Amino acid sequence: MRKSTAPLLITRGLSKYYHGKTTVHAVRKVDLRVYPGDFVVILGPSGSGKSTLLTMLGGLERPSLGSIQLGDVVYHHLEEGELTELRQQKLGFVFQYFNLLNSLSAAENVALPLRLLPLTEREIEERALSMLEQVGLKERAHHLPAQLSGGEQQRVALARALVHEPELVLADEPTGNLDSKNAALIKELLVRLNTEKQQTLIIVSHDASFRKLANRVVYMSDGEIDRIEVKARGAD
Ligand SMILES: Nc1ncnc2c1ncn2[C@@H]1O[C@H](COP(=O)(O)OP(=O)(O)O)[C@@H](O)[C@H]1O
Ligand SMILES: [Mg+2]
Repeated sequence: MRKSTAPLLITRGLSKYYHGKTTVHAVRKVDLRVYPGDFVVILGPSGSGKSTLLTMLGGLERPSLGSIQLGDVVYHHLEEGELTELRQQKLGFVFQYFNLLNSLSAAENVALPLRLLPLTEREIEERALSMLEQVGLKERAHHLPAQLSGGEQQRVALARALVHEPELVLADEPTGNLDSKNAALIKELLVRLNTEKQQTLIIVSHDASFRKLANRVVYMSDGEIDRIEVKARGAD
């Protein structure tokens, strides 16, 4: 079955070099294929290039070498404005430090990606609230981030990453700043998204317990992919 499905994301020779006093090869020649519905977890020690790889996949940083293709769009052909549009329409981001806007309520934060779509104010509000309900935070819709716990803020961030139904969700250490109970809640939400909605996910972590959730595990060290493990979701 897999053979007949086209990959959603393909990288070829993807590399990032930082030039300073010495040149840092943060990511070297990464060839990766991600299929629709995949739950990919990228594991590796601190400094192995995970975040650099993810920011390139997210179109937030340009590669030094190599290419990234999402569907039929090849990133490096895009102008800055087109790249922004691609990010806004096709991608959802979750970061370690939540990155919510402090002056906006939970619902207003979740609504942000919808403001770029041709929707009425009422539709925007309904979709934002429905998304907050799915992460169990409907009652907190009008709270500011400062009035929410870290775990709640991350659930708001997850709702914001999903509300515009992106093709691909990218998360960098999404539980890195949470206690184990809240981390488990975020993991549960990610699993549900993947199994119930076939949402394609790429999660970066140094937390090996993410491995169990994935159907594809990418092991990185020193900027390179050491190996890719294909496994059943939920299996050890
Ligand atoms: N903006 C930058 N300038 C110079 N070096 C960087 C920059 N960003 C990351 N690096 C270096 O690239 C390597 C990979 O970093 P990173 O992708 O953050 O790793 P990880 O997320 O796996 O911890 C590290 O050696 C880091 O110091
Ligand atoms: Mg990192």
